[in-house]
Amino acid sequence: MSEAPLSGRTAVVTGGAEGIGAAIAERLKRDGAAVVIADVQQERGEAAARAMGAAFVRLDVTREEDWDALLAAHPRFHILVNNAGINNGPAPFEELSFARWRNTLGVNLDGAFLGCRAGVRAMAPMGGGVIVNIGSAAGERAVGEMAAYTASKAGVHALTRAVALYCGKRGYNIRCSAVLPGSIETPMVARLRAESGDAPAARARIAERHPIGFVGDGADIAAMVAFLVSDDARFITGALMNVDGGLTI
Ligand SMILES: NC(=O)c1ccc[n+]([C@@H]2O[C@H](COP(=O)([O-])OP(=O)(O)OC[C@H]3O[C@@H](n4cnc5c(N)ncnc54)[C@H](O)[C@@H]3O)[C@@H](O)[C@H]2O)c1
Repeated sequence: MSEAPLSGRTAVVTGGAEGIGAAIAERLKRDGAAVVIADVQQERGEAAARAMGAAFVRLDVTREEDWDALLAAHPRFHILVNNAGINNGPAPFEELSFARWRNTLGVNLDGAFLGCRAGVRAMAPMGGGVIVNIGSAAGERAVGEMAAYTASKAGVHALTRAVALYCGKRGYNIRCSAVLPGSIETPMVARLRAESGDAPAARARIAERHPIGFVGDGADIAAMVAFLVSDDARFITGALMNVDGGLTI
């Protein structure tokens, strides 16, 4: 039997307690990595980690001290997936509060920055690694009612390219790319749908917006992450990979 593609590597997945992050953690574990789930939700995160044979650390991606603690507990990891993110739902732009703007930018963009920086700090002395950021189709194709979310994800995409370029020029052997999902069935999307009133109708509307005709699931995103972190993707860095059923065509 051939060796699992990620055997001997450690992967940290933020926001891995549920949704897309849990699917990514599961997939990387299946591909042979030792997985650390890092999430702000302690109980759910511990349960998810236990179920798949992963480790858990409590981490709020917006807190520098939490990243320092993660680096102290797990100084060597080869793979980092900055997946944790929030979507506070639609709001008329005139009524978008500064607090809500900052909250969204804080988790999605500050969190990705602190994550990338921790990843580079850990991986450069080890001779390399791979960082994958989870962006969004909404960061490419703006959603007018979600200005904060759209701007935060466009920021994640730009950050991804800057980190890729920086690490390449420094000869760090660290690749950094992003996966840009379309609608994926997760607790986040279920919440947004429930808030919009008629959940089944909202689901049909969301599916229709995707040329492929359906909403994806976490495994679809996990498959792209598994490819990007594998040696098959050794020539890929700074890439923004659409996994969106054609939404951004
Ligand atoms: N679901 C979609 O349709 C979709 C589409 C495009 C992009 N995305 C992106 O994919 C990622 C995962 O989304 P999801 O749908 O699985 O969301 P989700 O709400 O279902 O799960 C998010 C996870 O992140 C964790 N998290 C939230 N804030 C955190 C923080 N400050 N620190 C640490 N962990 C935190 C949560 O506890 C949860 O476990 C997000 O970055 C999201 O923006 C999702």
